[in-house]
Amino acid sequence: MKSYFIITFGCQMNEHDSEVLAGMLEAKGFVAADSMEEASIILLNTCCVRETAENKVFSLLGRLRQRKMAHPDLIIGVCGCMPQQKNMASRIARLFSYVDLVFGTHNAHQLPELLDRVANSKKTVQEIWPASRGISEGHPAKRKDSVRAWVTITYGCNNFCTYCIVPFVRGRERSRKQEDIKAEVAELAGEGYKEIVLLGQNVNSYGKDLEGGRDFASLLQCLEGINGLERIRYMTSHPRDFNDGLISTIAGLQKVCEHFHLPVQAGSNRILKKMNRGYTREQYLDLIRKIRSAVPQQSITTDIMVGFPGEDDSDFNDTVDLIKLARFDSAYTFVYNARPGTPAADIKEQVPEAVKKDRIQTLIKLQNQISLEKNREEIGRCQDVLVEGESKKKPGLLYGRSRGNKIVLFPCTRNLRGKIVSVRITESRLAHLSGEMV
Ligand code: SAH
Ligand code: SF4
Ligand code: F3S
Repeated sequence: MKSYFIITFGCQMNEHDSEVLAGMLEAKGFVAADSMEEASIILLNTCCVRETAENKVFSLLGRLRQRKMAHPDLIIGVCGCMPQQKNMASRIARLFSYVDLVFGTHNAHQLPELLDRVANSKKTVQEIWPASRGISEGHPAKRKDSVRAWVTITYGCNNFCTYCIVPFVRGRERSRKQEDIKAEVAELAGEGYKEIVLLGQNVNSYGKDLEGGRDFASLLQCLEGINGLERIRYMTSHPRDFNDGLISTIAGLQKVCEHFHLPVQAGSNRILKKMNRGYTREQYLDLIRKIRSAVPQQSITTDIMVGFPGEDDSDFNDTVDLIKLARFDSAYTFVYNARPGTPAADIKEQVPEAVKKDRIQTLIKLQNQISLEKNREEIGRCQDVLVEGESKKKPGLLYGRSRGNKIVLFPCTRNLRGKIVSVRITESRLAHLSGEMV
């Protein structure tokens, strides 16, 4: 039996792309392998947002050399964002000549026919499209989870934040048709999925390229009515496009969760401008103030970066100050990494690595403190928890997420997977809450 194993790097968009690749492989007669060692095809779905992500791929490819020598029939494929960069596909083929197939983000749907080409080729098959030729619908995903399902609503990004490689490797923003999204979500609800996560690099600019004024707010409204579906989440929203109308739509919809992931990136207006983010710190703080007053018991999370070129002590202090004012429930913190081909990579005044390290440590310490305090505020409250299963580390405990996207653990011996239960929070930690079912 031919079997496949996909290793995914990067964001949830990529995770979900891997589910679609898995669906295509299953339609071609492959089955999922339990481990990389057992697989007859290994696919690496790659990320290039930071150099560390790329290095992981290079080192895994290096380790696969021996496997390929011992098993010449093994097929190794590399896809996703990395090969979509200039000259990267040929570089991979040159450095790792035993790789059988390299393809990009715009032609991922070609996987079945590309595998046929691999069978007839001695050299690495390389097929990269420089730009999208339209959204390819109708590829059923083989999903990993049975409670929460990811649904892509937009591909690509038009924002061109000056540090970011994503618009170069994912292309221009394309929105799926509202009807196609609705049909997919209705099917998922029919299969028993309780929660969907709408995915895009900037979900709240959904629909700008569609006719008929169907924007993100109208998409949420149309999905709210789907029977069986309990929760709607979305990732990622851009502060610039989060307007008052969207806040009031979300406040009025019962299924849309009270979790706002709004990457701020920096707290200094000078740096925000250089990043091309399209808002000031004052506008950002105003936005979260509005959200907090319109949506009770919300949680707000963010992405923040240190060490953007030219960031001096006073810029960094502005970021520290913004974190103190915003009081995020949690934050993903990143050290700026120059990506070849992006405008910021060409700025001369790059911040020394030691300074970046210092700054990220300060940020993490401060944010952890605030996250702990925010989680402590949850003690005594009741949370609706959508149960995902039994904790692997702590048998006898079930785990799930609150509407604010916090992990909640509670003791229970029944199988409540997929059920929503009310849990009174009794304890809080940095990364989870614990409580008892009421
Ligand atoms: N579209 C989303 C996420 C993009 S990538 C958004 O706009 O927020 C996820 C995060 O990676 C970004 O929010 C940013 O904080 C970080 N990131 C992007 N490019 C980076 C770079 N060159 N160096 C370090 N972090 C980066
Ligand atoms: Fe990158 Fe900015 Fe687009 Fe996010 S919005 S993917 S950070 S360019
Ligand atoms: Fe990485 Fe591509 Fe996502 S570069 S973060 S996998 S869009």
